[in-house]
Amino acid sequence: MNRRVRGGPRSAARAENAYFIHYPIKTFVDKFLITKKSIRQKIRAQRRQLTAIQRQSAGLEVLRQLRRLPGFLTCKKIGAYIANDGELPLDYVVDFFWERKKNSYLPALFGKNTRLMHFGHFSKNSQFTLNRYGIPEPSSHIRRQLKPQQLDLVLLPLVAFDANGNRLGMGGGFYDKTFAYLRRRTNWRKPKLIGIAYDFQEAEHLPSEPWDVPLDYIVTQSRIIKPNIRS
Ligand SMILES: Nc1ncnc2c1ncn2[C@@H]1O[C@H](COP(=O)(O)OP(=O)(O)OP(=O)(O)O)[C@@H](O)[C@H]1O
Ligand SMILES: [Mg+2]
Repeated sequence: MNRRVRGGPRSAARAENAYFIHYPIKTFVDKFLITKKSIRQKIRAQRRQLTAIQRQSAGLEVLRQLRRLPGFLTCKKIGAYIANDGELPLDYVVDFFWERKKNSYLPALFGKNTRLMHFGHFSKNSQFTLNRYGIPEPSSHIRRQLKPQQLDLVLLPLVAFDANGNRLGMGGGFYDKTFAYLRRRTNWRKPKLIGIAYDFQEAEHLPSEPWDVPLDYIVTQSRIIKPNIRS
C-alpha cells in the first residue's frame, strides 16, 4: 500500500519537507566522504611510488627540520611510529633520540573493542608483536606503557594536511580517539602533536569533522608549518 496516500495530504507535506531538509545534508555528507576518499587514494598512491632512497633522504631532512622545532631538543618522552603504506620513515629521528638518551614510544592498541592507544617504550633491542591489524607494537611490559598525556611530544603519520592544522589519517580514527581529550583543554595541553609529511601531502583545504584533533605543527622535508589560529 502506498504510505503517502494512506497518511493523507498532511503527512505527504511532512514527507516533502523532510526531503527538502534532508536532501542537502545527504548531498553534503556524500560529498564530504567522496572528497576524503579521493584525497586518500591520490596521495597514498603518490606516497607509495617513492623509492627507498627518496624516503630515507626525506627522513633525514625531516630530522633537520625537527631540530629547529620549539620544544623538540628538550623533550624527554616522544611518541613515534613505524612507517607503513609509504609513510615518511622516522629511522633517523628515532636514532637521534636514542643517541641523546631520550625515551621513545610507539602506539599500542589499548583493550579489545576500543580505538584508544597507549604508548609502549622501545629501544634498539626491543622485541615486537603484531597487533590485530598486523602492525608491530613493542612487547614491553605494561609498566613501561604510557598514557597519551604522559608524553611530551608525538609524531603522527598522516595522509594529508592543510595550513589550518587539519589532519587526514587513514580513516580509522585511532589518533582522534586517543587525543580527543585535547579538544576540551586550553591549558596543560600535552603532548604536542606534530604531523610528519612529505611536502606533496599538503591539501589546499581539508574537510574537518567535530572529532578531528588538530595538529600543533606539521613538519615536512622543507619546512615547519605552524597552523593558522583557529576560531
Ligand atoms: N572522539 C571520537 N568520537 C567519536 N568517533 C570518533 C572519534 N574519533 C574518531 N572517531 C571515529 O573515527 C572515524 C574515522 O575518523 P577519521 O575519518 O577522522 O579518521 P582519520 O582521522 O582519517 O584516521 P586516524 O585518526 O586513525 O588516522 C570516524 O568516522 C569517527 O566515527
Ligand atoms: Mg580524523
